[in-house]
Amino acid sequence: MTYETIKVERQDGITTVTLNRPEKRNAMSPQMHREMSAVLEELELDDETRVLVITGAGDAFCAGQDLDKYFHDHKDKPREMERIRKLSNEWRGAKLRLFPKPTIAAVNGWCFGGAFTTVAACDLAVAAEEAIFGLSEINFGVFPGGLVTKAVTDLLRTRDALYYILTGDQFDGRRAAEIGLVNYAVPRQQLMAEVHGLARKLAEKNPLSLKAAKEVYKLGKSMGWDEAFAWAIAKINELTLLQKGEWMEQGVGQFRGKQYKPGLGAYKKKG
Ligand code: ACO
Repeated sequence: MTYETIKVERQDGITTVTLNRPEKRNAMSPQMHREMSAVLEELELDDETRVLVITGAGDAFCAGQDLDKYFHDHKDKPREMERIRKLSNEWRGAKLRLFPKPTIAAVNGWCFGGAFTTVAACDLAVAAEEAIFGLSEINFGVFPGGLVTKAVTDLLRTRDALYYILTGDQFDGRRAAEIGLVNYAVPRQQLMAEVHGLARKLAEKNPLSLKAAKEVYKLGKSMGWDEAFAWAIAKINELTLLQKGEWMEQGVGQFRGKQYKPGLGAYKKKG
């Protein structure tokens, strides 16, 4: 499939999807929403993709929703607005958040409003120290809508979330790391090398274990202790079945055979 608003590159198990409207600071147009929705479906089943990286072209990660094409163009078209709003929330709130392989946001530059949902939906996020973030919605008279408020509620402490929701103040990549919006920040020049290094580390792990680890964490988060325990038991039984006992035979077996120390690194995958 060919895309106009995004770019897809595959290398050594790592697929990088670049939001690619640099002249509009990678703002999310309806077409970008359609293409992101389609590409996530494609990559979900793509064996070449073991880890997914999302970044932006040029000096922006993403300037949020396209204020013209997403909002203004639909101001008198409630049905179309509804349709595109649903798609916009679905690819980030569901497809990306529950993507069956690890996902990393590489926040290279400007990151505003709706782009927070994309960052939050990824499992991990690394920012350029120079990147500028902001919940700018209050500056044009609304509030962080869609899933943005939910995303920051999940990730940030109450004081930080409300501070940025109410003031619309900008902050940089270092501050984003301090408040837990991203894992850490590095100088922009090092960002993609750093993210690809992290992606390679993930690509070496057992993909079925990674998928189960995400599901146990993400879906278990809202469960009580009893449900979470039952859920984890069900998932380890499923994992054992799908892996044909690999973690016990190789993971535990190689430890028992004194071939490695799991505290210090991963077992050697055979076959
Ligand atoms: N929607 C539509 N177009 C946008 C958006 C956007 N969110 N952001 C930038 N653009 C367009 C500009 O209109 C401009 O287009 P033009 O060249 O045709 O005039 C082009 O991108 C470049 O933008 P500049 O403002 O000239 O770029 P600059 O680098 O100086 O500033 C910045 C970047 C700070 C991101 C600025 O464009 C901005 O404030 N954008 C809006 C950010 C925002 O508030 N996003 C939240 C949207 S609401 C939501 O997501 C829920």
